[in-house]
Amino acid sequence: MIRRFDYGAPLPTEALVVDVPLSTDALHPFAVSTSEKSVTFTRKLGKDDLIFGLGETVRGINKRGHIYRSWNTDEFSHHENKESLYASHNFLIFYDGEKAFGVFFDDPGEMIFDLGYTSADTATITSVNGDLRVVVIEEDSLSGIVAAFRQLIGPCYIPPKWAFGYIQSRWGYAADKEVRTIVKEHRDRHIPLDGVCLDIDYMVDYKDFSWNQESFPDLKQLCSDMKEENIRLIPIIDAGIKQQEGYEVCDEGLQNGYFCTYEDGTPFVGAVWPGRSYFPDFFQPEVRQWFGKKYHGLMDQGIEGFWNDMNEPALFYSEKGIVEARQELTRLMDMNLGLDAFFHLKDVLMGMQNKREDYESFYHQFAGQTVRHDRVHNLYGGFMTRAAHEGLTSYNPEKRHLIFSRASHIGAHRWGGVWQGDNTSWWSHILMNLKMLPSLNMCGFLYTGADLGGFSGNTTEDLLLRWLQLGVFTPLMRNHSALHTRDQEIYRFGMQEDMKNILTVRYALLPYLYSEFMKCALTGGSMFRPLSFDYPHDPACLRIEDQVMLGKECMIAPVYEQNARGRNVYLPEDMLLVRFRSAEDYCLIPMEKGRHWIDLDLNEMPLFIRKGCIIPLSHGGEWVEQVDFTNLTLLGWVEKDAAYQLYNDDGYTTKPVLTDGLTAITLEVKDGKGVAVGNGLRVDGGKVIIA
Ligand code: NOJ
Repeated sequence: MIRRFDYGAPLPTEALVVDVPLSTDALHPFAVSTSEKSVTFTRKLGKDDLIFGLGETVRGINKRGHIYRSWNTDEFSHHENKESLYASHNFLIFYDGEKAFGVFFDDPGEMIFDLGYTSADTATITSVNGDLRVVVIEEDSLSGIVAAFRQLIGPCYIPPKWAFGYIQSRWGYAADKEVRTIVKEHRDRHIPLDGVCLDIDYMVDYKDFSWNQESFPDLKQLCSDMKEENIRLIPIIDAGIKQQEGYEVCDEGLQNGYFCTYEDGTPFVGAVWPGRSYFPDFFQPEVRQWFGKKYHGLMDQGIEGFWNDMNEPALFYSEKGIVEARQELTRLMDMNLGLDAFFHLKDVLMGMQNKREDYESFYHQFAGQTVRHDRVHNLYGGFMTRAAHEGLTSYNPEKRHLIFSRASHIGAHRWGGVWQGDNTSWWSHILMNLKMLPSLNMCGFLYTGADLGGFSGNTTEDLLLRWLQLGVFTPLMRNHSALHTRDQEIYRFGMQEDMKNILTVRYALLPYLYSEFMKCALTGGSMFRPLSFDYPHDPACLRIEDQVMLGKECMIAPVYEQNARGRNVYLPEDMLLVRFRSAEDYCLIPMEKGRHWIDLDLNEMPLFIRKGCIIPLSHGGEWVEQVDFTNLTLLGWVEKDAAYQLYNDDGYTTKPVLTDGLTAITLEVKDGKGVAVGNGLRVDGGKVIIA
């Protein structure tokens, strides 16, 4: 059962693609109270109730016990006490061990989710502006709730197949030569690679859609040489447009009134990397069309994918903010700064960044209304991604493209993927990034992954190796690090052979990972799920935070602790442990339901396959197109017969289907031998253990 409740004057966010009629009944899972502006939803929590959802946020898969704030924020430090990151994913599931319901707060402004923080037995959810739509979903199962929700919010973005390959990135790659060297180092050592990201350093003065002609003298040639090597370049695009006369994007935006404005209609100015900048008003279809077409310039050079950044939007300072700060500094300069004054000085300086008053000082033209930014803040980045998606699609409507964004909201999952932002080279962040995966999937974001090795801070080789062992499973598998941090490319480390071997596992598993991704994308499923979704009545599964289900057949449990040589794992049923060292070097260990200690040397990673299931393993490749989806080994522990529905396509088609005989092939084990029911598949069934 799906019910909708409206409060205030909800804006047309387009998050929902299905018209849910307004509920006429008074049944509401929350007590609702309204104050002058805000609306508050309150619910008592049973001692053992669980709360899932909220997508990209810190802390647990079970969100209970903390406070979260939907307010897209350029947050470079993902501490546990951070209430907001770059995204606002206002979907939650409440589960009391018997019954569950899902709830979506379709609110583009600030929301506060106090989930047992102020009072352990109460969830208090507040819409600060009070203009929102609430959708409540009741279904028989937790996965059923997610599937019903995903129907309501529309299909998720599907990237091209090559985007499932390993991508190398770093803030600081500043020249054609450097990119070529990085690729050569990978290819010479046979380290698989499909893409290299270009961060802001490729631009001229951080101007979107420009590239530095001195350091990248012939971008077209570079793209084509890279394509020969089966490598795609993926440049970054930022939300802010440099204020500079003569810069085409700035001039056109000003002439046509395409930028966000102050109340008096003059363009709003905030500063980001290029200094003073304007911000396109992505809520206007005409602006999206204009901005989207700007991507074509780089596509003409041979670019097939982009990442959108700083689109919360991040603001270093505003004109007004810097004037005020200057005045305050002048006043403080003459003082003998004691405790309060000193910390005030710090606040004056730090407080200029991402300042609330700045977000309240500019306006959009949104669906025929002039709307102050803070009312729609959380949609801004998603609508930038929409502009990109529409632009990229119009360039070649027949082909999928790669686009992933930093900021997002539910709705933006239809236009692009997301990466998990500026994590740090800390062991605890492997676990944090693992926990985000099921939550992001529930909210529709399937194409996602974290900066492997960690963005800020200096990585260590054991940390990178263990992080890669998680990254093997995430659709976006990218190694990315910040400027001035230690070099983080695999080939920089003594353990490079082990890291390479781990990457071979990724490419060998590609038929399975791609297949599961596509099936989930096309049917509203989650590729990553909390264990409680599959085993809702197993008390142990309800509390497990460091293992997640992957696809229909598998469970993952990466090692995330320094110097560990194994880990404890709970198996909710009998499973086959595949202990991988590489695509060729692995052992199969049938294990019984229950708790186990698993030995895992630094170069070993586990994958658990449910008993009775089989998964395909390819012979790998150094880039995605090299992976042969028709020459497969089956892995599994089965009684006698088992089957797997393999999905495949050309990797580009924008019209993927599940039922087409060409794309879905059944792999079967019959009497212990692997067979394929479908076209042209060769399957050796040699790795199947018969119970
Ligand atoms: C912030 C992004 O989160 C990060 O990934 C990127 O490297 C920097 N901006 C520089 O563009």
